[in-house]
Amino acid sequence: MTIRHLGVLTSGGDCAGLNAALRGIVLAAHRQGIQVTGIRKGTHGLLARPVEAEPLSPALCDGNLLRRGGTILGTTNRGNPFAYPMPDGSLADRSAEIIAGWRQLGCDALIGIGGDGSLAILRRLADQGGIPLVGIPKTIDNDLPHTEVAIGYPSAVDMATLALDHLQPTAASHGRIMVLEVMGRDAGHIAITSGIAGGADVILIPEIPHSLEAVARHLTHLMQDGRDFALVVVAEAVTDESGQTVTGGNAGAGYGGIGHVVARRLAELTGWETRVTVLGHLQRGGAPSARDRLMAQIFGVHAVELALAGRFDRMVAWSGRGVISVPLAEAVAHSKRVDPDGPLVTTARSLGIHLGETT
Ligand code: F6P
Repeated sequence: MTIRHLGVLTSGGDCAGLNAALRGIVLAAHRQGIQVTGIRKGTHGLLARPVEAEPLSPALCDGNLLRRGGTILGTTNRGNPFAYPMPDGSLADRSAEIIAGWRQLGCDALIGIGGDGSLAILRRLADQGGIPLVGIPKTIDNDLPHTEVAIGYPSAVDMATLALDHLQPTAASHGRIMVLEVMGRDAGHIAITSGIAGGADVILIPEIPHSLEAVARHLTHLMQDGRDFALVVVAEAVTDESGQTVTGGNAGAGYGGIGHVVARRLAELTGWETRVTVLGHLQRGGAPSARDRLMAQIFGVHAVELALAGRFDRMVAWSGRGVISVPLAEAVAHSKRVDPDGPLVTTARSLGIHLGETT
């Protein structure tokens, strides 16, 4: 199969580095004489008539694109094409319309940049529509397996670490416990990584059951030893004391609010003043970090190489300091959580960071 024309889309929640990945794809493709069409708003662009898509030329891929947050193509993390919410409240399978839209573009293969949910949807569409597909991992949550890093995660960690850098002096000035709630969906990767990098005293992640009484005891010991501030990082999917996840605290979108629950309870248990910062979408927007720019362009270039080699139904991945690819089926089969016995957790413990455990 000869590849002359690639389609590309960004799908799922946005993150920093998506434009850098587009740049990698477009520049690598054009060097091989391959034209690239960008599909707008994820699969939604293929539902629109006329299909919403535009040519992506090397002229667009200047240094500015590399630095820009978000995605110039737009994206969506709503509207699963297989269960698409209709105005009357019903759910419709609109996959055939999307495949018809794809055929209108005349592309030979699709590069889909997405997280586990969107890559699973794209894979199903590719299977149904006979679309040769290569996936690129992106998610600030870093919960895709078989890749050490997904686009967006490094910048999100940097932002959460910066937040701790900014919270520490004000915490120390006022003698407060500062609680920082970070994103990550069901995984605690952002929390544990930024918590270690930012000098947190306590890190609560969904993978490790916690007791706020145990946390309060640890903070009280710190206080007795002369500490006059504390930094607590909480992953958004950490449960409250009754084991329930807290939702609705972030303008109603999914998880959000556990930081307030933790701060209230720690104030009661320690007598210390607490304040909460919900970092939210600051972790997604903004210019990509150097690592994200690098990973995104490596992934973009390698995705083009895979397409040229006819190696479809695969996702590019980073493993052992090298770019590899893995079957898409394996990449979306399960979600990667923080290993409670892994090096980050053991490092945190060795540093004296409390992880909420009772023992
Ligand atoms: O999956 C990425 C993510 O940012 C999660 O960390 C977070 O829970 C969710 O998306 C927020 O989604 P939305 O942008 O719809 O509020």
